[in-house]
Amino acid sequence: MHFPSTIGGICLAVTSLTHAINVDVNTTQSLTTAAKAVASRIVEIYSNTSTNIGLFPAPYYFWESGLTWDTLILYWALTGDSTYNDLVGEALLSQMGSNNDFMPANQTKNEGNDDQAFWALAAMTAAERGLPTPQEASANVTWIQRAQTVFDEQVARWDDQSCGGGLRWQIFPFNNGYDYKNALTNGNFAQLAARLGAFTGNATYTHWAMKTLQWSYDSGLISSSGAVYDGFSTTTNCSQANHIQWTASAGAYISAAASVMSATNAAPFWTTALNNLTSAIDLVFVQDGVLYESACAPGNYCSTDQLAFKSILLRALSMVQDLGTTDSTTNFNTTTPNSNNTSLAFITPLLRASAQAAAAACSGGTSGKDCGSDWTTANYDNSTGLGQELNALQAFLSNLPKKEVRNVNSTGGSMGTSGVSNGTGNGSSAGTSNGTQIYSSGAAGSLGVAIGMGVSLMFACALLL
Ligand SMILES: *[C@@H]1O[C@H](CO)[C@@H](O)[C@H](O)[C@H]1NC(C)=O
Ligand SMILES: *[C@@H]1O[C@H](CO)[C@@H](O)[C@H](O)[C@H]1NC(C)=O
Ligand SMILES: *[C@@H]1O[C@H](CO)[C@@H](O)[C@H](O)[C@H]1NC(C)=O
Ligand SMILES: *[C@@H]1O[C@H](CO)[C@@H](O)[C@H](O)[C@H]1NC(C)=O
Ligand SMILES: *[C@@H]1O[C@H](CO)[C@@H](O)[C@H](O)[C@H]1NC(C)=O
Ligand SMILES: *[C@@H]1O[C@H](CO)[C@@H](O)[C@H](O)[C@H]1NC(C)=O
Ligand SMILES: *[C@@H]1O[C@H](CO)[C@@H](O)[C@H](O)[C@H]1NC(C)=O
Ligand SMILES: *[C@@H]1O[C@H](CO)[C@@H](O)[C@H](O)[C@H]1NC(C)=O
Ligand SMILES: *[C@@H]1O[C@H](CO)[C@@H](O)[C@H](O)[C@H]1NC(C)=O
Ligand SMILES: *[C@@H]1O[C@H](CO)[C@@H](O)[C@H](O)[C@H]1NC(C)=O
Ligand SMILES: *[C@@H]1O[C@H](CO)[C@@H](O)[C@H](O)[C@H]1NC(C)=O
Ligand SMILES: *[C@@H]1O[C@H](CO)[C@@H](O)[C@H](O)[C@H]1NC(C)=O
Repeated sequence: MHFPSTIGGICLAVTSLTHAINVDVNTTQSLTTAAKAVASRIVEIYSNTSTNIGLFPAPYYFWESGLTWDTLILYWALTGDSTYNDLVGEALLSQMGSNNDFMPANQTKNEGNDDQAFWALAAMTAAERGLPTPQEASANVTWIQRAQTVFDEQVARWDDQSCGGGLRWQIFPFNNGYDYKNALTNGNFAQLAARLGAFTGNATYTHWAMKTLQWSYDSGLISSSGAVYDGFSTTTNCSQANHIQWTASAGAYISAAASVMSATNAAPFWTTALNNLTSAIDLVFVQDGVLYESACAPGNYCSTDQLAFKSILLRALSMVQDLGTTDSTTNFNTTTPNSNNTSLAFITPLLRASAQAAAAACSGGTSGKDCGSDWTTANYDNSTGLGQELNALQAFLSNLPKKEVRNVNSTGGSMGTSGVSNGTGNGSSAGTSNGTQIYSSGAAGSLGVAIGMGVSLMFACALLL
């Protein structure tokens, strides 16, 4: 399970009867093409099955639609393909509810704080990337204002009455789970707060991100070594954590910690926290050199929700990688570990190997491009659905070059808060040239390139201990 410090690679020959998605993780063009294929399938699933604007139907819950739109905004930002922007904008607006808080009447009876936050995070991404606002009556509320509204509501739900703080999973007492304080809820809230802080420069948000992280450590929701547990009950004052670990919860906290670390110019405490969180995933969620949902994949009993979780961690890891590759102020270097980040060197090879394996696993169904769920086999595992596509899409996006996110000072787009605008920001500054080397030192270089056309032999390389 543990990613080796020295990597040995061997190649396994796998016969494929199908058209896998090809990807060369070294080239922008290839990653973009692969992402495009998967994004198009995701939108096709939506078009073919949706009965309400903005929502994928059962078995997909409300939150997963929010995550999908979020991912498609990132897709546009990193590939430049704006084909789905109008659709995504309409989808977000359609589920906004009358208070601009992503609590539409149809959802409120069973919507949790974590669900609401997924939509708020999509609005956050829309602000950071400058997604145009659709021409509608409600269009004069900005994306960032929607994210702020959700933040304000969740702050008001912060509960000091039990467990020394934290957010409850559910919003309403009549729902099962109101007595549960969990990692995904608090991690999502911390991430929203941290990104609001980075976007607006308002320290109140960053404060709440830190406070939530600190509470998560103090309460034992996150272990001192950085393992993120699922949650605990307020009925026992959060004394007995459910120790199961999910990629999504770790990802939510890693994204939060990465933003906080950046906001504090790599204050040692937060640098260590990010290091600990990130290195902990190496111990739990990596198998055969690729990302793995270890709590359910072995028995093949991941739920529909859980089948989308890897995308959340993949996105978080690319945030950390972006800090390392471009932010010299943080002392983060994912290429060359130093005493501040001894364990981060595994991120780039993990992202590359995961993308390669995900591509090879996108070889199922009648199209020959349905994405499977388990990447360790580098082959389609007969598991098909929205989550599987989202994981694969994010795997490709996580290897694309970083593009700067906007903030309150950026010009253009529709991100403004209260008229503060003095822009130097540019939402698309990083290179998009074809065939350029993206990350120079990935140790996954021995991975074979899938050559799937017709009946073919694919060489999928597994990284072994
Ligand atoms: C959507 O429906 C069309 C027409 O029936 C079909 O060809 C296509 O495969 C479907 N796409 C997906 C992703 O289900
Ligand atoms: C709420 O549900 C009704 C009935 O299914 C549907 O007509 C309506 O469009 C839904 N509203 C939203 C915002 O999804
Ligand atoms: C814009 O927002 C204001 C409230 O802030 C509202 O009164 C007004 O109707 C909105 N305009 C449109 C076109 O929706
Ligand atoms: C926006 O610009 C002002 C004035 O230069 C600066 O003080 C502030 O930190 C900037 N905000 C962000 C979020 O970069
Ligand atoms: C910062 O954000 C908080 C929380 O939304 C808000 O109450 C406060 O007014 C903001 N401060 C400034 C200077 O905008
Ligand atoms: C990081 O991990 C070390 C070793 O487990 C622990 O001593 C330290 O308190 C942790 N620090 C943070 C901020 O998580
Ligand atoms: C990371 O380390 C490599 C190799 O030492 C170096 O070339 C690169 O500039 C470093 N990156 C940063 C952001 O310091
Ligand atoms: C580690 O971080 C500290 C505090 O930010 C910094 O002073 C030091 O130079 C860093 N060490 C290395 C090897 O980058
Ligand atoms: C997927 O289904 C095919 C055809 O039924 C079967 O041969 C194959 O073993 C299955 N693969 C897995 C990983 O279950
Ligand atoms: C806006 O930017 C200009 C040029 O960089 C600068 O002179 C001016 O002081 C800035 N205004 C504010 C409010 O930051
Ligand atoms: C990238 O490659 C495609 C197809 O080969 C070509 O159409 C496009 O102009 C290239 N873009 C750049 C920036 O070189
Ligand atoms: C990708 O880049 C790595 C690291 O530079 C290199 O070793 C590897 O051969 C490249 N792979 C392909 C398919 O070009």
